[in-house]
Amino acid sequence: MCGIVGYIGKRQAAPIILEGLSRLEYRGYDSAGIAVFDGDKINISKAAGRLKILEEMTHNGETLKGFVGIGHTRWATHGVPSTINAHPHYNREETIAVVHNGIIENYIALRKMLKEKGYEMVSDTDTEVVAHLIDYYYKGNPLEAITKVLHRVEGSYALGVIFSEHPDQLFAARKDSPLIVGQNEEGCFIASDVPAILKYTRQVTYVDNQEIVRLRGDHMHFYTVDEEEIKKESVTIEWDSKAAEKGGYEHFMLKEMYEQPKGVADTLLPRIKDGEVVIDELNMTDEELLSVKKIYIVACGSAYHVGVTGKYVLENLARISVEVDLASEFRYRNPVLEEGAMVIVVSQSGETADTLAALRESQKRGFKVLGIVNVVGSSIAREADSVLYTWAGPEIAVATTKAYSTQLIALYLLALKFARIRKTVEDKVFAGLLEDLKKLPDQIELLLSNKNHIQKFANRYIGAKDIFFIGRGIDYAISLEGSLKLKEISYIHSEAYAAGELKHGTISLIEEGTLVAAVATQPELFAKTISNMVEVKARGAFVLAVTNEGNMEIEKAADYVIYIPETNPCFANSLAIIPLQLFGYYVAVGKGCDVDKPRNLAKSVTVE
Ligand code: F6R
Repeated sequence: MCGIVGYIGKRQAAPIILEGLSRLEYRGYDSAGIAVFDGDKINISKAAGRLKILEEMTHNGETLKGFVGIGHTRWATHGVPSTINAHPHYNREETIAVVHNGIIENYIALRKMLKEKGYEMVSDTDTEVVAHLIDYYYKGNPLEAITKVLHRVEGSYALGVIFSEHPDQLFAARKDSPLIVGQNEEGCFIASDVPAILKYTRQVTYVDNQEIVRLRGDHMHFYTVDEEEIKKESVTIEWDSKAAEKGGYEHFMLKEMYEQPKGVADTLLPRIKDGEVVIDELNMTDEELLSVKKIYIVACGSAYHVGVTGKYVLENLARISVEVDLASEFRYRNPVLEEGAMVIVVSQSGETADTLAALRESQKRGFKVLGIVNVVGSSIAREADSVLYTWAGPEIAVATTKAYSTQLIALYLLALKFARIRKTVEDKVFAGLLEDLKKLPDQIELLLSNKNHIQKFANRYIGAKDIFFIGRGIDYAISLEGSLKLKEISYIHSEAYAAGELKHGTISLIEEGTLVAAVATQPELFAKTISNMVEVKARGAFVLAVTNEGNMEIEKAADYVIYIPETNPCFANSLAIIPLQLFGYYVAVGKGCDVDKPRNLAKSVTVE
């Protein structure tokens, strides 16, 4: 989603800002812009489309001279993607420039008020309102003007603001949209995400809700919305910046698929000690865990699919009732949460607006929330009552692969922990489950090594119109994710169906040659899924099956079979998803799609 970078210091600002914006490209955007004060006035350059266009327009920032500036990559919410709607936005005298992530929810009322006061809007954005509103309140003191604006605007924002009358200062503020600041010997930085400034500094401070920052070249001051100065601690970012580079792979997505064995092992192994599952981060005693009566899992997109799998696994192994909700539904459906329940939110970015809102809604109702999160220090990680980190490392490709695989592991570990405490599995079975878990990294590696066969198969489907995925139980959860992976990056229409539900409508879409991917990893459901495969085959479908090694029976109903190594059926998702990720990837590559940055999508969905 939108990205912000700003700099003030001894070096030329524009090249630093453009470099920072390029590190945020993976988040998804449709236009970009930059504002730099040249010693006399603020100059803005903007362009619709890729950042490359802006880089060319400004000769990589060379033509925009100056030591203070702000830049932005925009993912359109209000107003079409265009140069005019791109940020930064000026006030009418062009003495103030603003970049903004988030949504100003009362912008229509503010726009009307400003028009009545004689302000003219040139764009369709909610952000331009902020620039004019700052102008309206500005009487020579930037901090005072910004605090007044923050009292007027509703919604979410991360803001970067510069004033031509105060070229020695850069301002930033935040509410419900991520923002960090950092410093090195040569200057200070603002950014919406850590990778943007990692090349320049590892010392960052997370700006909290309704805080304002005033950066000068050599120091940073933090304020509340009432202009009271506050002290904040910085943290050192430990990430390896190499992890955010392609390292010889054609796409980040492929690289990240290959990082799955490591991510899975890193998330799993430190939490298995002496034959037990140890999750210290839960901050809950065994008695407290035993008193949990029900679990709600809330998430969006692929993380929701992890939740669907988690429901099957937790209910099966720990015999505890689980409800799974899409965060965007949960937050507005006035849910009845049962007393004694635990809420788990799952998020790679830790910034997804709906998931964050679901977390807050649960806390407001008095429930403790466990976050399963990948990005350290993200909003969900900071606001959850406890955090179980997935150790996937930075995920750049918009379509998640390695974060998804590590989220599955986090839920398996929880299921085993609950199963142990609730005594729902025998010791021998428990030990076997741990052994199966430990084998997953190698088994994933093995499946990845089969990529050439899958690529050949995928090439046959680059012209497909519709592709269906079917399965029962956990296989349905796997189908949901397999279908999403394919459609989001290849733009081929695809649906996932619970196999038994097909004949209640969707089967009418099956035509001669339609590809149906049937997932069959649950032995007690094999016969049922095979019947559904036979039904679609009889109507002309070409059936691809993903099933367990040794399940030869399936060959009677399938046209092409991919086998996965032996594991406990509860963990089958971790293996069956690998060929489906590869299939989606190679169909998209075959079609020439922009795999890492699919159209209309953003990596971190920080607006509703
Ligand atoms: C799909 C994908 C999305 C995310 C969803 C939630 O490949 O990546 O569906 O899973 O937007 O994002 P996080 O996990 O950051 O909350």
